[in-house]
Amino acid sequence: MFSATCVAPVNMALVKYWGKRNEELILPINDSVSMTLDANEMCAKTTITASESFKQNRMWLNGEVVTFEENARLMRCLAGVQRLALANGAHKFSLSWKLHIASYNNFPTAAGLASSAAGYACLVYTLARLYELPLNEELTTVARQGSGSACRSLYGGFVHWRRGSSADGSDSIAVPLAPASHWPNMHMLILVVNDARKKTGSTRGMQLGVSTSSLIQHRAKEVVPRRVKELMAAIESRDFQAFAEITIKESNQLHAICLDTYPPCVYMNDVSHAIVNFVHDYNETVGSLQAAYTFDAGPNACIYVLAENVPRLLAAIQLAFPNDAQQSVEYLMGIPVPPVEL
Ligand code: PMV
Repeated sequence: MFSATCVAPVNMALVKYWGKRNEELILPINDSVSMTLDANEMCAKTTITASESFKQNRMWLNGEVVTFEENARLMRCLAGVQRLALANGAHKFSLSWKLHIASYNNFPTAAGLASSAAGYACLVYTLARLYELPLNEELTTVARQGSGSACRSLYGGFVHWRRGSSADGSDSIAVPLAPASHWPNMHMLILVVNDARKKTGSTRGMQLGVSTSSLIQHRAKEVVPRRVKELMAAIESRDFQAFAEITIKESNQLHAICLDTYPPCVYMNDVSHAIVNFVHDYNETVGSLQAAYTFDAGPNACIYVLAENVPRLLAAIQLAFPNDAQQSVEYLMGIPVPPVEL
């Protein structure tokens, strides 16, 4: 019997991935850039055991049985890692041995908090450890086929997912841009507005967006390439003003595309919009961009802020959003690190 346990963190997109050009291979219509959180804060933890005596592959997510063999994305990830293992030849047991997989998320699943990114990254990374495979570009192409954004959670710090141009997806890879230590005072607060499952999942939202939004192709062709370049320069020079402006505009454009989708996908709620207004008012009051919000496909806010500005921002958040049932927000902080084997 062989076993491996790993944790993989959530990543939060700065330049958003939204829209696929190939549904099966999960090839995006545009590049994206993200920051990975601290693996202890918001992460998936996965244990995979391989045994000659197991009769079938089995999986549990947060203690509930998952119909593994019927889940095309899970099967594609398993097949992808096993293909790499076969080519690499370092594994110590037969690839025909069945697997038992137990995974836990320490944060709400499918609530726009990138649970699938951490989950699939952790699955693929743990499989790679089990079969003694290195973390490399090819492994990111496998994680991408579980959930697109998962390929970015294989690295810590700031990560770039290149859309690529090949038909087989071999150049649609995640590459690390800068480690967490490059910008050590970069912090992230997550304001949990609502931890319920979202109505329209990101897969469906993207499909509808690609087929009905007239803005989405303009964004992919004209806007994203420029913003990726600008954001990479802002990260390199640790320019928080530029970083914040691009991040805020990206979040707003993602949700503009969602509203331009027919029927519209509405992910943000009244509290989300109150947070947007709060951040703009706060930045105006302090006289510079000290906080930058971003929202994925859900109502929860992620706020980037430099460590030295956290106490002041938190005090203002607590004042603006007193902890009542209508407007409750919680926060977590992360310093980004890559996945780790336990
Ligand atoms: O990887 P998916 O299918 O969960 O899509 C993620 C999409 C966003 O989180 C909204 C944006 C992103 O780049 O992570």
